[in-house]
Amino acid sequence: ETQIIEIDCNHMEEKALEGLAEILRRGGTVAFPTETVYGLGANALDIEAVKKIFQAKGRPSDNPLIVHVARIEDIQPLVKDIPLQARRVMERFWPGPLTIVLEKTEGVPLAITGGLDTVAIRIPAHPIAQRLIQMAGVPVAAPSANLSGKPSPTRGEHVVKDLRGKVDAIIMGGSCDVGVESTVLDVTGEVPTILRPGGITKEMLLEVLERVEVDPGLKGEEDIIPKSPGMKYTHYAPEAEVYILKGQEEKVHHKIQELVSRYKAEGKRVGIICFDEDHDEYRGEIVKSMGSRGELKTVAANLFKVLREFDETEVDIILAEAVEEIDLGEAIMNRLTKAAGYKIIYVE
Ligand code: TXA
Ligand code: MG
Repeated sequence: ETQIIEIDCNHMEEKALEGLAEILRRGGTVAFPTETVYGLGANALDIEAVKKIFQAKGRPSDNPLIVHVARIEDIQPLVKDIPLQARRVMERFWPGPLTIVLEKTEGVPLAITGGLDTVAIRIPAHPIAQRLIQMAGVPVAAPSANLSGKPSPTRGEHVVKDLRGKVDAIIMGGSCDVGVESTVLDVTGEVPTILRPGGITKEMLLEVLERVEVDPGLKGEEDIIPKSPGMKYTHYAPEAEVYILKGQEEKVHHKIQELVSRYKAEGKRVGIICFDEDHDEYRGEIVKSMGSRGELKTVAANLFKVLREFDETEVDIILAEAVEEIDLGEAIMNRLTKAAGYKIIYVE
């Protein structure tokens, strides 16, 4: 039986949180909100507890987990050393939507790192996550709290849908501000490298780092394997087939209208993902907007919710508009492209 507990982050009930921290300490699993997406937590130093995470999610065991801590001092026992560049980004962006990959100590179980000798660490900013981890008094391993392959959960309801009956407790703590998972930055090489784009953008990292590279494996070309094990799996996939349309806006509108007619003639049901500005182009169809094209923060916050909403409808095919891959647009297009299984239609 899964305990489902509502917590208001403006009036946090210490007693309820203490009970949840106790579940973590004793080797149980607790799903909790963070500012990016909901996470499914367990004591990172307890191998049996960590196994429960993989089981509940149906996650491949070679896909490593992020370890969450409450304060910078808490990473000391987990990592060999903290290079200067790592120190800079931590001081600037923690707590926040940034995960840093460092060389691990013997203390970190290989079950967490998927056998790698590095460990991914993050200090979340969400008040519930902060307080829970602090109270638990142990590092908390937490992947996104979705079934493996599904869009990450950005609302308590998403977690309940995926994990009720599979975990010990779920905290219902409202919606997540950022809406896409943290940026994963590897600082073990000479040049810091983004393994997964997220809430802290390349542009922001360049405020404190001289150089930042982006893992070429992220583009989905078959012969380049991504460095972050998780990025190689199909992900975020709604039940319908997703296609992304790229090109000049007017031409994309026309192409979508044309494809909708064609698919309908074949007896297929079509959904459209677009932006507020373009909503009227598709009157009469099943359309969901992610927000205004000019407000990438809103678009990121709504992306997974919209993908999940389509699972409640009966569509066979989803046609999605694209944004430019700069700033937060990089993370948005990374997730959308994975949801589409890299199926992109370039409109000339
Ligand atoms: O925002 C987030 O990061 C959320 C919240 C709950 O903190 N967590 C999250 O975890 O997205 P997960 O497990 O869904 O994604 C972790 C990503 C995966 O792509 C994984 O392969 C990568 O981080 N990762 C973990 N450890 C790594 C390591 N040692 N080296 C390279 N990549 C690593
Ligand atoms: Mg995930």
